[in-house]
Amino acid sequence: MEPVLVRRAEPADLPRIAAIYDEQVRTAISTFDLEPLPPAYWEARLASRDPGDHVLVAEWEASDGSGAGVAGYAYSSSYRPRPAYSRTREVSVYLDEAARGRGVGRQLYDELLDRLRADGVHVVLAVVALPNQASEALHLACGFERVGLLPEVGWKLGRWVDTAIYGLTL
Ligand SMILES: CC(C)(COP(=O)(O)OP(=O)(O)OC[C@H]1O[C@@H](n2cnc3c(N)ncnc32)[C@H](O)[C@@H]1OP(=O)(O)O)[C@@H](O)C(=O)NCCC(=O)NCCS
Repeated sequence: MEPVLVRRAEPADLPRIAAIYDEQVRTAISTFDLEPLPPAYWEARLASRDPGDHVLVAEWEASDGSGAGVAGYAYSSSYRPRPAYSRTREVSVYLDEAARGRGVGRQLYDELLDRLRADGVHVVLAVVALPNQASEALHLACGFERVGLLPEVGWKLGRWVDTAIYGLTL
């Protein structure tokens, strides 16, 4: 496991977070966004003080000695806006390609889930577009179960994409 520091994201982290996400927007089915999101989207996510809303980053030392950098991020946010859903949170995680498969996703989720437990969140959901072996493995490793499958709900990169819903009761 890499020596990474997981901490709450700050405004200075947002360009790096956006860059990690935008690479997946352009090249992968892991997100159903088709265009990069404007800075205001990330600023609003960071500004939310709703209980159960968090944005965390994993920071690591660059192997070339050029200092610490953000290797990835994870966040939790409202699942759906109607108030009876308030103790359910949806989570997501994205890493720079160089940081994948080294335990960084696990470290981000362990910290995020601890914070959600402390907030009194009851159910955590994640939507995983398929195929995504690494994401499915991460969620299973963190105790999630696959609780649903939505066939062909996305159209991206020239094909229909299914999503699996992963759930964890805290
Ligand atoms: C999905 C993602 C966040 C996983 O994070 P990660 O740091 O690579 O995963 P970790 O190294 O912490 O591994 C977590 C578990 O998944 C397993 N795993 C990781 N990558 C895997 C892969 N490619 N295939 C199979 N299993 C894999 C690990 O072995 C580990 O399981 P274990 O604890 O039982 O040994 C990361 O790969 C990523 O950012 N991918 C691109 C963006 C994305 O798809 N985000 C998810 C959107 S739903």
